[in-house]
Amino acid sequence: MVGSVLAFSIALLGSTLGLSPRHADYISHLEGFAARVPGGPGLFSDYGIGHVGPLQPQLLRQEEDPEDPEDPEDSETRIQKGRVSQKVPSFVAGLVYYRNDRNGNEEYKGPFCTSTLISSTEILTAAHCTEGMKNVRMEVVLGLSDLRAYSMRINENNPNVAIRDFYFEDVEHHENYTGKEDNFLNDIAIIKLSEPVDISQFKPIQLAGKEEGYTQNLKANGWGLKNCWSSSAEALREANGTFVDRPTCSDKWSRARDSTPIPKSQVCVTYKADGMDAAVASGDSGGPVYSDASNGPVQIGIASHVIFDFYYPPFLMCVDSSVPQVYNSVPEYKDWILKHSPSATFV
Ligand SMILES: *[C@@H]1O[C@H](CO)[C@@H](O)[C@H](O)[C@H]1NC(C)=O
Ligand SMILES: *[C@@H]1O[C@H](CO)[C@@H](O)[C@H](O)[C@H]1NC(C)=O
Repeated sequence: MVGSVLAFSIALLGSTLGLSPRHADYISHLEGFAARVPGGPGLFSDYGIGHVGPLQPQLLRQEEDPEDPEDPEDSETRIQKGRVSQKVPSFVAGLVYYRNDRNGNEEYKGPFCTSTLISSTEILTAAHCTEGMKNVRMEVVLGLSDLRAYSMRINENNPNVAIRDFYFEDVEHHENYTGKEDNFLNDIAIIKLSEPVDISQFKPIQLAGKEEGYTQNLKANGWGLKNCWSSSAEALREANGTFVDRPTCSDKWSRARDSTPIPKSQVCVTYKADGMDAAVASGDSGGPVYSDASNGPVQIGIASHVIFDFYYPPFLMCVDSSVPQVYNSVPEYKDWILKHSPSATFV
């Protein structure tokens, strides 16, 4: 389905970014652990461990075309590489949404971001995930790896799965979230669930109250794009992360584009999956990077933004996995998180 991929990329190139060919830029929507395999520029050799989040909030706002630019059932362009998570961690939550079609019928549009359960009624994610998602019904999904439409239908009443509706009004966005204008500062949001989930079944993740001690054995999960042109997510994916200190990260960013130094409120990570470079990409946004510590997983970051390379033609948008991916720091937002989720656990 090359056509659908073109629609996706042209929309981005034309309406938002206006970039010249092969220009590297970054956008906040990390969507998928996309990665670049050594090969010539522009070759169809990219892959990732991520997964496809069919649409992202940004596309939702732009896309007026009645044809879905990303067919969730399309399997033709998929490359089955990367690592599918053996099981969905109890705290990893998918964010999916529904939108009304031309006739006013509600349509399932699939996963758009990743998030974490931090208490029985609160979900932590990135502000850019839900910002602008007005007038759509969204759902938090726990315990389910495959977030495609048919799987959602089949699992609606599955006791091992928890699905909760929410709307824009149920999301607390950080009041000083800056977006692209200022390097996605304060890219953090908390979703309030009106009906709690059973935390004896879905154990919330612990949050890092400080960085020290939680920068080793990093792992990430997400439903993001798993390569530069793919469409749908058939399972949650995972990768192993390496913490990158701020001076090194700032240096890599400044070599790739004009950028300001990485502030203390952000955390940088690079990834490998099965020994190969990987990266967070669109759809992994809002998802966790966590230390697999002896006292259980401890979240240190919230996926925020990356550098994409555009290959044009053939209209591919690939995450540049050589530049560390930037997360919103969890420890730096301890007070803000506790204000909006008093029963979240910091360690
Ligand atoms: C947002 O920015 C204003 C102005 O700098 C500041 O007074 C306020 O405390 C900030 N809000 C948060 C939640 O940090
Ligand atoms: C992550 O690292 C662990 C420990 O070395 C290894 O067993 C696992 O296969 C790695 N996972 C991926 C996705 O590469």
